Amino acid sequence: MSRSITFSMIKPDGIENGHIGSILEKINKAGFKIVALKLTHLTKHDAELFYSVHNERPFYKDLVSFITRGPILAMVLEKENAVDDFRTLIGSTNPLEAAEGTIRKLFAKSVGENVIHGSDSDKNAVIECNFHFSNREIFSEK
Ligand code: RTP
Ligand code: MG
Repeated sequence: MSRSITFSMIKPDGIENGHIGSILEKINKAGFKIVALKLTHLTKHDAELFYSVHNERPFYKDLVSFITRGPILAMVLEKENAVDDFRTLIGSTNPLEAAEGTIRKLFAKSVGENVIHGSDSDKNAVIECNFHFSNREIFSEK
């Protein structure tokens, strides 16, 4: 299988609670290559666009307010089967239901504050990487 990319971000709770180092170590140990990485802070407008697919959901307002309350660590990750393997690594949306050893099981407290994002399809991975990074910020060996 060829290598593909996924988009991830460590959410404000992960940064506030000092989990950046531990989470990046788990990502590296799972075989993902970091091809872009930056600490940034989403505006309300950015967050509303990024989560626009959820704009009819009851948790949308809380989600926008949570994701903008502090910095996030945005990254582009590369690996074979990146999207699915990364979602396995982070675990279920609700950390109470996440498998042992997953990032959300280890570091997240609730469904609303679940420490990390992972793209849900190859198509959305490309859209989300381009939302957060310019072409020259994404390392490519080609
Ligand atoms: P993510 O996009 O952050 O990787 O999470 P996900 O695919 O596992 O979950 P998704 O359905 O895309 O939901 C996006 C984020 O919305 C918040 N959420 N809250 N209170 C709730 O019932 C609820 N449901 C979802 C979560 O923070 C979730 O990560
Ligand atoms: Mg999602």
